[in-house]
Parts: sequence; structure tokens; C-alpha cells
Amino acid sequence: MIKVSKKVASIAPSLTLAISAKANELKAAGERVINFGVGEPDFNTPAHIIAAAKDALDKGYTKYVAAAGLPALKKAVCKKLKEDNNLDYEPSQIIISNGAKHSLFNALYAIIDEGDEVIIPAPYWLTYPELVKTCGGVPVFIEASRKVCYKITAEQLEKAVTPKTKALIFNSPSNPTGAVYTEEEIKKLAAVCEKHGITVVSDEIYEKLIYGGQKHYSIAEVSPAMKELTIVINGVSKSYAMTGWRLGYLAAPANVAKAIASFQSHCTSNVNTMTQYAAIAALEGPQKPLNDMLEQFGIRRKKMLEILSGFKKLGIDYVTPDGAFYVMLVTEKFYGKSYKGRKINGSMDVADLLLTEKKVAVTPSVCFGDDTSVRLSYALSLEDMTEGLEKIGEFIKEIK
Ligand SMILES: Cc1ncc(COP(=O)(O)O)c(C=O)c1O
Repeated sequence: MIKVSKKVASIAPSLTLAISAKANELKAAGERVINFGVGEPDFNTPAHIIAAAKDALDKGYTKYVAAAGLPALKKAVCKKLKEDNNLDYEPSQIIISNGAKHSLFNALYAIIDEGDEVIIPAPYWLTYPELVKTCGGVPVFIEASRKVCYKITAEQLEKAVTPKTKALIFNSPSNPTGAVYTEEEIKKLAAVCEKHGITVVSDEIYEKLIYGGQKHYSIAEVSPAMKELTIVINGVSKSYAMTGWRLGYLAAPANVAKAIASFQSHCTSNVNTMTQYAAIAALEGPQKPLNDMLEQFGIRRKKMLEILSGFKKLGIDYVTPDGAFYVMLVTEKFYGKSYKGRKINGSMDVADLLLTEKKVAVTPSVCFGDDTSVRLSYALSLEDMTEGLEKIGEFIKEIK
């Protein structure tokens, strides 16, 4: 038997897998499953983006290109960062990778030495701790309490810092909570990072999906010193409904970008060339499809919150999210109670029972380092959402 390395042996399998495998089994058996587990826009990639990829293929752009990305795409990313985030980067500071997930891996691999601590606010996107461990780091969690809308404070951050702290992974808007930090909140966190020289890996993949008048603010914008400490992660997956295309990017201080460019040149080389042309069209082309999608998400979010507010009288709670397309529905009140004789011990049981008994798939928040809730995505049709929420309401009423 081949013994796997310690690095990969410590990686946890995705807890969501069991739930989605069961949902797929039910579907294969002909059951109608309403899926609130979706982590991607349910809209098609806009036509002009698809056309740009086809055009690239027709023109024969099917060869290797520069490992760190097409110069034209890096320029488009610089323009986007300047216009949207008031950040000045040179194209050499941009690395185009296979999705924001790959950009995150590259960023962490480039900065973590064995035993370095990386602070992660919880609830977190489940990939973060596993990537930190893969890179030889130690994840350190701070509870982002729902009482303060799932946001960590500068005081909490200060307390978590040790001589081994290397980085903070910061995600606003957040998956899974939908929390969006304000400029003021970010400036306070940045002051702690500047004081201790902590690198911030700032995952801004949901930047465009913000509702209710809040504005995205990048921690790299705070000051030139903070920009030197930040690696900005972003991509086209969520904003342009391009999850399957696999294109993310990072912007980093020159020495970090140079190291990542070398590393990527040996690992993956360039992201597939036609996808890079499609991404140029996404960033530089009409933004109407993005705005239309955002409007639809806004309508669904409103509807979901309207229905969920009715659940409050059933004793269930949630925090109004300002961004992304998720709502955390707090289920901890039911732990210790039973559904049809089966005891509910945590969010995994809630998710399992909802799927088995109501054919409704949700994501248990235990996957995100918090066992209080289930995450509902509103990347599904209004009709499905309404029907699914009715079933969740019935389920709650049947808990004894
Ligand atoms: C917070 C967060 N960051 C990064 C990603 C990865 O995005 P990509 O599909 O571009 O790899 C996701 C995808 O679910 C996400 O939720």
C-alpha cells in the first residue's frame, strides 16, 4: 500500500459530500429534490462571454500562453481593480489561475512556512482550513458571532495574534453568512494587521453580489502599507455565472506575485486560453447581465427573508445577509428535540432529516466550523424556493 504524505493525510473530506450524494441518489430514484445547497449562480454564462470563447477557438487561440496569464487579461484585471477598488497594480502583480480556489491555494502556498498560524473567522468557507493545512500551516479560528452579524472585531483579532501568526483569511462578502464588513470595520481590522505585520488573504469573490446599499470595500484600499500586506483574491465564477470555466485571479505585492508566477509555471501553466479570452469579455464587456442577475438575486433574497421572518414565530432565527446568496437559518434551538422519534443532535441531523423526510437539501453549518445552523442558498428559482421553504416550515412544526 502506498503511504500518503502527512500533508494530505490531514485533509478532511468534504462533509457536504454525504448530503449531496444522498440528494443525488434520491434524484436518480426519480424523487423531486429542492436544492438549497447550491454554491453557484443558476444563471447561464452571458452570451457575449460565450461568443468571445468561441471566437478565440475559431481564431486558433488554442496554444500555450504565458503561465501567469494573457497580458491582455492581466491588463483588464488591473483596470477592474483600479476602477472598482481604487487599487493600482502592474500586470506583473496579477496571476490568473484555475478559479479563485486555485488562487487561494497559490497565495497560501507562497506565504506559509511549516507551523505558521493562519487566522480564520468562523463560520468560514470550508476550503480555507484544509488549504492552510495542506500548506503546512495551522488554522486558528475566531468566532464571528451571529449577535454581531457574523463579523469579527479588532479586539478579537488582536487576542488571536501570537508570534506565529502569519496571515488572516478575510472574506467579505462572506460564504456562508453573507456578512459584508463596512469600511470602518475593515479599517479597524487593518490597524491590527499593520501593527503586527499580518498578511491578509482577502477573498473578494462575492464582491459584486451585495444588496441593500452596502458597498464593497477591499482591505487593500486602507493604506499603501496595508496594500503591501494584502493578497487580493477574486475571479469571474460568481459575478459572471462562470463557475465551470475555472478562472480566478490574485493581485499581490511584486515579490509574492513573482514567486507564484514561477511556481504556477511548473504546476499548471496557463489557465485554458479560450477561458482567458472569455474572462476579458466578462470584465470589459457589458455589465448588464451581471446587473440583471443581481436584480434577480435581490428579488429572491427579499422573498426568502419575507418567508423566513414568518418562521420567527416558530422559534427559528436568522441574520439578514447583505451579500453573496446565502442565509444561515439558526436551528440550534431544536437540538435535543426529536423528529418522528429521531433525536436531533446538530445541524447534520437537521440537514439529513430535511432531505430524507421533506426532500429538501440544505448545507449543515457544521461544515463551516459552527454547528448552530443550516445554510440556505437562494440560487434557485422563486417557485422552488417558496415550495422548499414551505416544507422547511412544516418540518419545524413537526419537531417535538
Ligand atoms: C468564499 C469562496 N471563495 C472562493 C470560491 C471559489 O471560487 P472559484 O469557483 O472561482 O474557484 C468559492 C466558491 O464557492 C467561495 O465560496
